[in-house]
Amino acid sequence: MKRLDLKLMENNITREDLDVLIDFLKGDPILTQSANVRAFEAEWSQWLGVKYSVFVNSGASANLLTMAALKHLYGGGEVIVPTLTWVSDISSVLQNGFKPVFVDIDKNHLGMDTDEVIAKMTDKTRAVFLTHVLGYNGLTDKLIDECKKRNILLIEDVCESHGATHKGQRLGSIGFASNFSFYYAHHMSTIEGGMVCTNDEKFYEAIRMLRSHGMVRESTSQAVKEHYWNTYPDLNPEFIFAYPAYNVRSTEVNAVIGRNQLKRLDANNKLRTRNLLTFLNNLDPAKYKTDYTTEGSSNYAFTLALAKPDKEFVVRLMAAMKEAGIEYRRGMSGGGNMVRQPFLREIVGADAWKQFPKVDHIHFFGFYIGNFPGLEEGRVKELAEFLNAVK
Ligand SMILES: Cc1ncc(COP(=O)(O)O)c(C=O)c1O
Repeated sequence: MKRLDLKLMENNITREDLDVLIDFLKGDPILTQSANVRAFEAEWSQWLGVKYSVFVNSGASANLLTMAALKHLYGGGEVIVPTLTWVSDISSVLQNGFKPVFVDIDKNHLGMDTDEVIAKMTDKTRAVFLTHVLGYNGLTDKLIDECKKRNILLIEDVCESHGATHKGQRLGSIGFASNFSFYYAHHMSTIEGGMVCTNDEKFYEAIRMLRSHGMVRESTSQAVKEHYWNTYPDLNPEFIFAYPAYNVRSTEVNAVIGRNQLKRLDANNKLRTRNLLTFLNNLDPAKYKTDYTTEGSSNYAFTLALAKPDKEFVVRLMAAMKEAGIEYRRGMSGGGNMVRQPFLREIVGADAWKQFPKVDHIHFFGFYIGNFPGLEEGRVKELAEFLNAVK
């Protein structure tokens, strides 16, 4: 059998990024959070089209701070979450005392099914915390309008979809707040890193404080600081802790890499989009699902799902990919059907997965394969042909 030797990600931090970093280090710089973090936040806000961004040490930390800020600013309640997402999208909800309400996927974009989200809204719903899965746009006008109408906060997790759009507007700039990850396997990397973005000033100030031990001095608002100074005259103004919080700051090293990476993000995403379309157009629709909604998508992964459940074929497919050196992740967005995971079974019940048949198909018969800018179109065609030929 021919080897294709395809990794999940290649060369995401380039020689040039490292040279820029070495030049920075030669200047005898400050390394803890400082001017480059501030500059990266400003450049990211401009790229995304939002007023405020806060750089943190991971996408999971971005999730955690977002849910913590919602709890402190708006109180508890229910948060509607996907069954296909990353663990931190659910754990952040639980850790902040919200009740997660699960929703099955829409097969065409792998995000939450809009009608099911709306059906599960109650007067206790505080937020809809959606994930744009593997580069596909999970937003619909119907969902945006319904959230507005009911005063429900729409939070976008864009950790897997940097640069994707809804009607031409960048995902992450549409909801009340958004989260990004810069982990190595994603569209761009700061080694580890994440961003919380918003247009809401109050939320932004809370996120800044939550990032650094809950300290009031982290706020950029004179009004916020004066409020705490005047209310707590017995405290040293430098050490007022507004929230029981965390230290999830990043560093100058990560920000220098991020700033350089951002310069080529759009060009890289164009190559990824070309690759995804080539992949889907060359894949056999009798065997695999090919009719995803690709408008506005930005995918660092090829989504591969069997058109129909087939327990024997999927075993042969995995063996063939392994033998050909094709790296893959089963279950697509990390862990497949979340309600099957041990940390949730205790909460939702051992049989809860039965309520979500569409994500369960992805759990057993869905994969992600790496799609990175250096992957030539010819190799993408070769990959599709290889997959079509699996018997
Ligand atoms: C949807 C989603 N949210 C959050 C995260 C967490 O990001 P990180 O790995 O940077 O902590 C990921 C993971 O990669 C993710 O895919």
